Amino acid sequence: MSIRTERTTGTDLPPPAPTTSAARLRGRESPTWLRFTRMSAAMVVQRAATLYAAKVRRDPVADLFTGSRLDPYDRYEQLRAAEAGDPLPKSSLGLRYTTNHAFTQQILTSRAFGAVPGHDRDGWFDGDIDLSLLQLNPPDHTRLRRIVTPAFGRGRMIRYENRIRETVDRLLDAVPADEPWDLMSRFSASLPIAVIVDLLGIEDYDEPTFLRYGAAIGGALDGVRSPRHAAEMIRTQQDLRRIFEELFARRAKDPREDVISGLVAARDEHRIAPEDMVGLCALLLLAGFETTVNLIGNAVLCLLRNPQQWQALVADPALAAGAVEETLRYLSPVQLTSRFALERTELGGVTFEPGEAVIPFLAAANRDPKVFERPLEFDITRPNAAEHLAFSGGAHYCLGAPLARLEGRIALQALVQRFPTLHIAGPTERRRGMTLYGAKHLVVSA
Ligand code: HEM
Repeated sequence: MSIRTERTTGTDLPPPAPTTSAARLRGRESPTWLRFTRMSAAMVVQRAATLYAAKVRRDPVADLFTGSRLDPYDRYEQLRAAEAGDPLPKSSLGLRYTTNHAFTQQILTSRAFGAVPGHDRDGWFDGDIDLSLLQLNPPDHTRLRRIVTPAFGRGRMIRYENRIRETVDRLLDAVPADEPWDLMSRFSASLPIAVIVDLLGIEDYDEPTFLRYGAAIGGALDGVRSPRHAAEMIRTQQDLRRIFEELFARRAKDPREDVISGLVAARDEHRIAPEDMVGLCALLLLAGFETTVNLIGNAVLCLLRNPQQWQALVADPALAAGAVEETLRYLSPVQLTSRFALERTELGGVTFEPGEAVIPFLAAANRDPKVFERPLEFDITRPNAAEHLAFSGGAHYCLGAPLARLEGRIALQALVQRFPTLHIAGPTERRRGMTLYGAKHLVVSA
């Protein structure tokens, strides 16, 4: 399989993508009520109508997005079987999709595909949320990403390790020793919030409020559900803007050793446009906890459902790194992403026209039997688990992957050491939504 690209010429050539700051300024010129009206009237209705029409036509992708009762992993296996004779099929929503590991990897790493269509930023999932890096193509993307990369590199993790351990200990000291407790609300959600808030330099945060922000923006990754959800998103964006702008002003006067101080310094050296800073900080904040919460929850769920694997980890906590990789593969916290052809491109015998969208189902690629033996088994000693694509690939490869891995490893080691007989002590419930996969509640007991 290979990707063949063909550059369009003359009048076919899409106009260049707007620069980051121009795109932001355009968004900020719209008054709030107008943006709300646009979202509620246009996005919500259009999305619901499109999905409903496709669902009526028994479109398998529409079925996934409209909250089919079928577990998405069962649906992926159906899609995979159908793709055997029809690679990269087109859903009646107009999107192509794939469950294939090799195609997914090629799409993510190819320069012929971008995170947004080069000529039109109002894509199907896009709407009015500022997702910063996730909505930029090179070269704007490269320039902005370079500024924050050093703060999340592997080298920095040594510095963060003790702070993460202290946070884990503080949270686990507070859970009840002799009665059931919800791992999600008492631990899995609190840890990544506390860590990312600490790294960014946000003081005096209110955890329930931040969880609400995460739910509003995280939920919007599947599309805005209702006018109420749209209003909540706008409020969240306004609140985050206020929080970050106050912090930029404080750090300009009193710089510290945190990510925000680094961004303020970059702004003063004209390396980052001021209007790009809030979106970037909001992405770091929300990507920092809306995903890792599910890594920790999914890992504990898989381990406790496979007691011999939990026991193996109790006996040898050094297996925690493998347990993290296998969880990312087996129950991926981010199930899918989307890409758009930036030019006419061929992949797997299919020609993509410029602007055409494709959904690589990361979670399905992570169970591709061509790459993973016994893909439906959870095995923390799997030798090639790290070949998963749970952190995506190419230019948008997760910036926080080293941090997420570190948090996951420390969390699991602490849990097996403190609670070797931990077990599930109540019904588990999956959180709503398609893009992010995790438990809403996971009641456990020592
Ligand atoms: C288990 C936890 C995590 C998972 C599964 C995850 C997954 C992902 C995925 C799949 C993408 C790329 C989406 C795409 O290609 O369209 C991504 C991007 C990103 N992630 Fe994570 N993430 C996790 C944790 C974190 C953490 C802790 C941070 C903290 C800063 C973070 C920050 C980011 C950022 C900034 C991007 C955008 C990168 C870019 O577009 O250049 N993530 N993540």
